[in-house]
Order: sequence, then C-alpha cells, then structure tokens
Amino acid sequence: MDNAENWTPPQLWRAEPGWLNTASYGLPPDPAWDALQQALADWRTGRISWEGWDVSTHRARESFARLIGVDAADVTVGAQVSQLLAPVAAAVPDGATVLVPDIEFTSNVFPWAVHADRGVTVQTAPLDGYLDAIRPGVDVVAFALVQSANGAVADLPAIAAAAREVGALVVVDATQGCGWLPFDGSLADVVAVGAYKWLMSPRGSGFAYLAPGLRERVRPIQAGWYAGEDPHSSYYGLPLRLAKDARAFDLSPAWFPWVGTAPALEVVESIGVERIHAHNLRLANRFLTALGQQPGDSAIVTVDVPDAQDKLERAGIRAAVRAGQVRASFHIYSTDADVDAAVAALTA
Ligand SMILES: Cc1ncc(COP(=O)(O)O)c(C=O)c1O
Repeated sequence: MDNAENWTPPQLWRAEPGWLNTASYGLPPDPAWDALQQALADWRTGRISWEGWDVSTHRARESFARLIGVDAADVTVGAQVSQLLAPVAAAVPDGATVLVPDIEFTSNVFPWAVHADRGVTVQTAPLDGYLDAIRPGVDVVAFALVQSANGAVADLPAIAAAAREVGALVVVDATQGCGWLPFDGSLADVVAVGAYKWLMSPRGSGFAYLAPGLRERVRPIQAGWYAGEDPHSSYYGLPLRLAKDARAFDLSPAWFPWVGTAPALEVVESIGVERIHAHNLRLANRFLTALGQQPGDSAIVTVDVPDAQDKLERAGIRAAVRAGQVRASFHIYSTDADVDAAVAALTA
C-alpha cells in the first residue's frame, strides 16, 4: 500500500470544506447519491417495480459481511442499532447482568435497561477499567467498538477473551468504527452497525451480525413477511415459515436508504478499510499534534479549547462541541486543508 501521506482518495465526494463530523453523519460517495436520485425519479413516475430497489438490500448485506469477516447468512438487516439489539436483549434470562461502559451511547444501553422489571441489571464501568469489571456473574458485555463521545477504541479481542472466560455474551456496537477501523466481527456474538456514519449511507439502514449459536436463543420478535424463507411467498397467512438463517430477524427494508447503502459499502470495500484507516488516523493525528496533543489511535478525537463553538462557527468548520470539548472526526473525504483550517480557527 502507498504510504498514507502520498495517497489521494478517489474524487467521489462533494464535501464542502470544513466537514469534521462524520461521527454525526457521513457524506455519500457519488455512486450512492446517484443511485438514490435514480430511485427517487423512478418512484415519482412509477417507472419500475420495487424488487429492483430490494436487490440493494442483498448487495449491502453481502458487502457488510465481507467488511467484518462473517458469513452473510449470519447478518440481519434493519433500521437502527436499538431496534437491532432489542430482540437480543429480550432473550437474556430474567435476572441477567449486562456490563456497559459508563459513557456508552444510549442505543446500546436502553435496550437492556428496559428489562429492569424482570431483574435485568445494567452495570457500568469506565472503559479503562472495563476488562477488570468482566467477572463471574456478568452475563453480557455490551460496548461500542469506538466510543462516540471521545473516540476511545475498545480492545475487542481482549474483551471478547475475558467475556468467554466468564461465559458472557459479547455484544458490540460498531457504528462508530465500521468503515474505518479493521476488526474481526466473528469474535463477537452480536455486532450491530448503523450505516449512516462511517459507511456513508442514508439514515435508516443498519446491520447486525448474529452468531448462529446465539440465534437459537433469540426469538425473532419483529418477524413479518420479509423474515420468511421466501419473502415473495410469505405475503399472506400461516403457517409461520421463517428463514433458517439470520434473515429471520430482518425488518422489511425501507427501500431508499438501502438503494444508497449498497453502493456506499461497495466504495468502502473497493478502497479498503486498511487504507481508510491509515488516511483517517493521519489526519486525526495531524490535528492533535498541531494542537499540542499526543497522537492517538482513533479517527474521532476530542480537544479542550475555550470558546471552541464560536471559533469553529466563525470559520465555517462543522465539528461537534460537547461540554466545551471539540469532537472532530476525520473520514476518507477529509483533507489536510480541513485539518489546517480547524487548527487555525481553534488557535486564532
Ligand atoms: C455508538 C453509536 N451507536 C448508535 C448510534 C445511533 O443509534 P440508533 O441507530 O439506534 O439511532 C450512534 C449515533 O450517534 C452512535 O454514536
């Protein structure tokens, strides 16, 4: 691979300078945008039947499976992370203990917490003490691969190994990592991903890897016609005839997000996650070091700068500001010029 310094991404994006907020939402590559415009035009005129849009869902499922190194038959499609996790949470036994990091994004907290009335307890631990907190008695370890608040990257292999020692399920929310951080999804029992951030898709498409052994214990409580073995012959009535694989957990797809999702994932695959990783880290670390901080290992970084919100706004930089901390995130379409403009604004 060329070194990250010399490599220029393909010209597939129309980002206006200063977009440093992929942790909020990612920008579509041209093939995703074009496919979506075509679908909208076809919808407006009734030119085609919906089955063509549905092909995108299958393409996207396969692409996602390749990206995280699992079998497409073990991947279900849905809409949001909380929705994808809900059936898994409903399947944990009464009285189970779920361990989550203390600043975990809510979509991986509330799905467990709503089971409090049947004795399911959500315990929290700081991410730097998370491994130590995986003790006998913990039934589920549920954590973000990359934290949305500060970009902290969890050590998936170490956490999965510790969880196996105590017989706990491993549930990963990889929404902030999938698309830039290489990882092995098969280490987990569940990997849920919303595609609208680092996979640069329209809002409304998501995936979950559900390990075969786990699926036997989870009821597909959202099953409808699309969860059928052959969706085209399960439009009406009994008997129940669900897919044998993870498709039994599928939500019937919102067509248009999926039309944009398939090409966006294919762009990620064609560039390669390793290359995206190198590009994103180079920019994140250029930003950190220019502001006098140590380089790190994440495409999402935070810095503490007084009046950050005003300074960034005046310079037209779009990054997140949370409790005085700037959260900047760097993806394939981010440039050195974006970094330098943000640094200039923050140090003005
Ligand atoms: C780590 C993480 N997971 C999930 C989501 C989105 O959750 P949902 O798809 O349930 O809306 C976000 C959004 O910021 C996030 O940062």
